[in-house]
Amino acid sequence: MKKVLLFVLLLTSSLLAQPAAAAGEAITIIRLPEPILNGSISLEQAIKNLRSIQQFTAEPLKINQISQLCWAGTAEPNSSLRSAPSAAAVINPMQLYVMLPDGLYLYEPNNNDLVKYINGDLRPGLSGAAFRQWTVQSAPCIFIVAGFVNKIEAKFRGRGEKLLCLEAGRIAQNIDLQAVTLGLGSVPIGAFDSKTIARICKFAENLEPVYLICTGNTSQKPSFVPVLSRETVQSPAVSRPVDISKKRAVIIIVSSYFNDAEFFDVQDVLKIGGVQMDIACSITGEIKGVQMNTVTATILVKDIKVNDYDAFIFIGSPTVNEYLTNQDALNLVRAANDKGKILAAIETAPGIFANAGIVKGKNIASYPTQRTILIQAGAKWTDTPIEIDGNLITANDFPAARRLGAVILDSLRHQEN
Ligand SMILES: Cc1cc2nc3c(=O)[nH]c(=O)nc-3n(C[C@H](O)[C@H](O)[C@H](O)COP(=O)(O)O)c2cc1C
Repeated sequence: MKKVLLFVLLLTSSLLAQPAAAAGEAITIIRLPEPILNGSISLEQAIKNLRSIQQFTAEPLKINQISQLCWAGTAEPNSSLRSAPSAAAVINPMQLYVMLPDGLYLYEPNNNDLVKYINGDLRPGLSGAAFRQWTVQSAPCIFIVAGFVNKIEAKFRGRGEKLLCLEAGRIAQNIDLQAVTLGLGSVPIGAFDSKTIARICKFAENLEPVYLICTGNTSQKPSFVPVLSRETVQSPAVSRPVDISKKRAVIIIVSSYFNDAEFFDVQDVLKIGGVQMDIACSITGEIKGVQMNTVTATILVKDIKVNDYDAFIFIGSPTVNEYLTNQDALNLVRAANDKGKILAAIETAPGIFANAGIVKGKNIASYPTQRTILIQAGAKWTDTPIEIDGNLITANDFPAARRLGAVILDSLRHQEN
């Protein structure tokens, strides 16, 4: 099961960036070469040589140079930890985008690949958003460090903005120093209008651009042998068809104190993926989360029509009891399960599946408080972040929410229309 899970996660991790693609449009995924970990100059030399460079030659960066810079910025392959750490630890609110002359890519650290997100040269627009800085228009490779404010706010209320900037600073410094070792020039850019950049890059709600790093070749030869100088690795680009624009999901929350961090993570991923969504609850109107964020529920759980949706997603809450014995919720789960629809639940919400009687013999992850009722209902309870068993997708706690969204997205892509 774990192997299957790993495969699905590797597959789905790239899907987070598929979003902007229209129905049927192919997605370019560039698998990156492994980073090199034995450079030829010392950290002290790299720090001494680090200067902001504003002029680049037109020569594009090699794919292994881009890979190395991405690794320095965020990746710690096969780990939830990163090259540049996060105050929120494994929640990792930061994302690294790479703008090349042919489009905008998202770097996916778990898979070590770049997924093309938008086609075309966006650098003139980006330069406009950066108050017409020529460096931004002319750099052959621009890293955009962006972060989810809501993710970090969920853990550090009121300090999210500050922590995002601190984290972005660490990522940028890693990229700048790595650029020196590669014999490249770089300059960090902080003067820009965030809203315009978010619009140009079609960022999801709550994803805020914090820092740009322009990189490129310079006409000056470095005084040392740059890392990768003998490497000529080129990775092939692969394409995957995408058409999930007709898929619909309903996210179901309790009427008070739903876990808003989980909600926004799942919603962000599905929104990026182009999935249409409704929010359902036992009451309609403004609903408050544990972190005091509000969302608007437009549909009553009792009115949800199973045939209207492809996926049913239950968000966790300390007050999940509201649905554990609610016949509308339990009947909905049974009806959706009978039709083989995707049923997802996170944290305390898998307990609803137990009481609906659909977990017998199934691998189910949940928050430990639900362990007993799940085992009593015949589930094989596990403490892994995500379990996928047929149409049932469950997650144990809020740090797994984004991955839960990715797995749902992938399942929707493989579900027949
Ligand atoms: C937070 C931050 C934001 C910056 N923003 C810009 C910018 O928008 N445009 C620019 O040309 N340089 C920018 N820089 C680069 C500085 O101008 C540069 O680091 C400074 O002049 C010192 O030069 P040095 O990096 O060669 O030591 C920024 C640097 C930092 C640290």
